[in-house]
Amino acid sequence: MKAYPSIEDLRQRAKRRVPKMFFDYAEAGSYSQETLRSNRSDLEQIKLRQRILRDVDKRDMSTTILGEKVPVPLALGPIGLGGMMYGDGEIHACRAAQAAGIPYTLSTMSINSIEDVAAAVDKPFWFQLYVMRDRGFIKELIQRAAAAKCSALMLTVDLQVLGQRHCDVRNGLTVPPEIKLKNIIDIMTKPKWALSILKSKRKTFGNLAGHVKGMENINSLAAWTASQFDPTLSWKDVEWVKSIWPGKLLLKGILDVEDARIAAKCGADAISVSNHGGRQLDGAPSAISALPKVVDAVGSQIEVMFDSGIRTGTDIVRALALGARSCIVGRPYIYGLGAGGEAGVAHAIGILGRELDVTMALCGVKNVRDIDENVLVQPRGGNL
Ligand code: GLV
Repeated sequence: MKAYPSIEDLRQRAKRRVPKMFFDYAEAGSYSQETLRSNRSDLEQIKLRQRILRDVDKRDMSTTILGEKVPVPLALGPIGLGGMMYGDGEIHACRAAQAAGIPYTLSTMSINSIEDVAAAVDKPFWFQLYVMRDRGFIKELIQRAAAAKCSALMLTVDLQVLGQRHCDVRNGLTVPPEIKLKNIIDIMTKPKWALSILKSKRKTFGNLAGHVKGMENINSLAAWTASQFDPTLSWKDVEWVKSIWPGKLLLKGILDVEDARIAAKCGADAISVSNHGGRQLDGAPSAISALPKVVDAVGSQIEVMFDSGIRTGTDIVRALALGARSCIVGRPYIYGLGAGGEAGVAHAIGILGRELDVTMALCGVKNVRDIDENVLVQPRGGNL
């Protein structure tokens, strides 16, 4: 792959290479996309202090995430349909993350199954769980993740019902795509994508196919979610998950201080402050504006991570300055995946790391663990 200077360059390339329905799925926010936009605009509002002549040689970006040593404070988050952005996409993304020494999270709604990924890589990865009505199946899924030696379970807590993404309805998103003229034309103009999908192991949801009754007839994510996801999910179920899962537990999707306090008491090892990348409650505040309040409330009791809106290494500095210990990214690496498989994801991770490194240096900071409110022009980032 040639050199791509920014995540935006990878995005443009992915947009050219991936059929519209799958690119749009990854790109979209819910409803009017107000929250999606405020995730970005609030991050961009946070100004950093330019500091000079402070000897910023020998910088160190390493830290720990859930006790694991990482060279950068970054993990790849779960993205549904990764294997529709590029054939065997989840395997490609996991390999790139592991080569960079950072965690990769496999989605419940992935195309490659837990077992496919485990067989293709030699280090543990994380597994993201959605709880469905069929608790027998969920128990099995947790056991499959444990048998595959997944090192952490990420329970997504903000998607009991799906926020509608209008483009998915307009595009008639299904997995695999329906044989319609519009789709055929789209695919014929994306030959590299088609080849990678043809060569891939699976063409549908790998963790679910063959395990869930009725799955054969449901290929729309929205229909699947409405019929299978459990809207009765409550804090009691978090205890249930904890009682079955032997490893580290991370709750992703906390935006409210009251919820953060309950999460800190429920025995989870970490939370991620998140609004699901603006894909769920439209009208919710930006995740970055919620971060300092959550950190004030529970930062001394539980590891606080951050996701929703990160597109640059500068954004990582902003989130760390507001108290996050590390960040999770979704779209930045999915653009890399669509742009060029494993090499594209490696590119995305490299871009974010280099931007983080230079931003730290220009803020006069040598060690990522020293990033705090002192790098901000205004306390708490200003009027978020
Ligand atoms: C699933 O997590 C989605 O955001 O579509």
